Amino acid sequence: MKNLLILVLSISVQLFSQPFLVIGHRGACGYEPENTLRSFRRAIDMGVKMIELDAFVCASGELVVIHDPTLERTTNGIGYVEDLTWDSLKHLDAGKGEHIPLLSQVLDLVDKRIIINIELKGAHTEKPVANLIHEYVKNKAWSYENFVVSSFDHYAVREFHELCPQVKTGVIFECNPIGYADIVEKAQANYAINFYESLTKEFIDDAHSRGIRIFAYTVNTKPLAIKLQQLGIDGIFTNYPDLFN
Ligand code: G3P
Ligand code: CA
Repeated sequence: MKNLLILVLSISVQLFSQPFLVIGHRGACGYEPENTLRSFRRAIDMGVKMIELDAFVCASGELVVIHDPTLERTTNGIGYVEDLTWDSLKHLDAGKGEHIPLLSQVLDLVDKRIIINIELKGAHTEKPVANLIHEYVKNKAWSYENFVVSSFDHYAVREFHELCPQVKTGVIFECNPIGYADIVEKAQANYAINFYESLTKEFIDDAHSRGIRIFAYTVNTKPLAIKLQQLGIDGIFTNYPDLFN
């Protein structure tokens, strides 16, 4: 009984000592072309402590930062990212003269100033992402605390955790599945990342009682952000990182 009380208290202290996080979704993509260096720079200038981005492995093996599996929506290219080499991707126009960045270019831009949430979007990204993080920690004085890794693919989250257990991870849900806590546990994850419409106070309290932090995507207005904050959410992904400025 005493041990249980200590566990509950320590979880509460950990949860409540963490600040509410405003996370720059694809950078500051309400203002700048998503997932570009310009967008990440803008989010950092707005004062965020964390940015989010989406990663694929292209045909020549590099990790590239783009949301869709295909190029058409966000660039002037055609076809699947995974079918094309870095040489054919790197000159494409991603808006306002920006290009698709390598994940390493985003890391170099951020240069340890904030946390990067890398979403494993493409297939087989967990190993190269783990390798890149280990390399930046070993050779460039980064900390594992500078990273969070997440995915809708919960097997990829668990696989990543096995390769890089030092980094905190999150499983992304499109809704609130019954048994979500089992999924978080099986993926060995720390966070649940949920579509905001499906979140309730009951769900958030339940997650907190289990030591799971909850983040909502994609929250683009201040009233909604405040409502979720009042429900007890730990942070939001937003296209407008200056929401509270
Ligand atoms: O991780 C939150 C959010 O980025 C997930 O959705 O489609 O924007 O990658 P999406
Ligand atoms: Ca994403």
